Amino acid sequence: MSEIQGRVAFVTGGASGLGLSMARILLRRGASVMLADRDADGLERAVAELSQDSNTVSSVVCDVAEAGAIEEAAQKTVEHFGKIHIVANNAGVGLGGQPGEIPIEDWRWIVDINLMGVVHGVETFTPLIQSHGEGGHFINTASMAGHVAPGGMGPYNATKYAVVGYSESLKAELMPHKIGVSVLCPGWVATNIHTTGFGRPSNTVPLEQAKQDPQFQEMDAVIKGGLDPDKVAEWVAECVESDRLYIFTHESMKIGIEMRYAQIKADYDAIIEDGRFDG
Ligand SMILES: NC(=O)c1ccc[n+]([C@@H]2O[C@H](COP(=O)([O-])OP(=O)(O)OC[C@H]3O[C@@H](n4cnc5c(N)ncnc54)[C@H](O)[C@@H]3O)[C@@H](O)[C@H]2O)c1
Repeated sequence: MSEIQGRVAFVTGGASGLGLSMARILLRRGASVMLADRDADGLERAVAELSQDSNTVSSVVCDVAEAGAIEEAAQKTVEHFGKIHIVANNAGVGLGGQPGEIPIEDWRWIVDINLMGVVHGVETFTPLIQSHGEGGHFINTASMAGHVAPGGMGPYNATKYAVVGYSESLKAELMPHKIGVSVLCPGWVATNIHTTGFGRPSNTVPLEQAKQDPQFQEMDAVIKGGLDPDKVAEWVAECVESDRLYIFTHESMKIGIEMRYAQIKADYDAIIEDGRFDG
């Protein structure tokens, strides 16, 4: 059981989408929240929207891809709120493409944010949570793309599988320290995630121009038809309180996981039937 009432939370990607919703719901449940994001204007709007006083909500500009930036943001959070209990390593970006066509600089960009951003959060905040002995909780945002890997989204899928595996390790490692771990694995949620790929290093098309593209508009409709991020954040809060590891959101997507495990089982059974290794 990880408490929320009276705790201090640090939420990355807090200026928009799921991060902003998690901040809103954590505040409602009696936590204080530090919003962290690289989007300074977005942070300003988010703090104004949450309309809390600075004793309960504050913000810090921070790029999660930079270990030093997270360390600095953590320091500012301790100075502001005294301590930290709950960390949502949530900031993330999207990147797809076909093999042989994805610039390596784009690969590094998404790995630095989606995977290393989580690593920087865990490495920075674990000792800070341990130091006060009151326990805490990490919420690492992965995706359904951390369990099933449709084609055309290789870089995104790879980072999200990594976040799932990393979170599974952390669960066992941090339990003795009274630090819970949850990995958020949503399907479509109505946020701005489909715009983030335009921030990749190799992109030359301004977002405003891309918005005219029918392919973008198709994706926009899919994302807008996704779940309400506040509803997802409510479920996240319940899962934190009950210390649940996997936070799924879409009943209809369970079939993808079942199919993956059926494939794994079939390939495993093939070596058992073959009898080649263990005899
Ligand atoms: N929306 C979905 O359908 C969906 C589904 C599965 C997983 N997710 C995951 O949810 C998380 C949150 O995304 P969202 O859907 O709320 O999208 P969003 O674009 O609305 O929010 C992402 C936020 O992260 C911030 N951010 C991006 N790179 C950053 C960096 N380097 N440092 C600090 N902040 C940075 C952005 O400025 C933005 O405020 C992501 O990890 C995403 O992969 C989203």
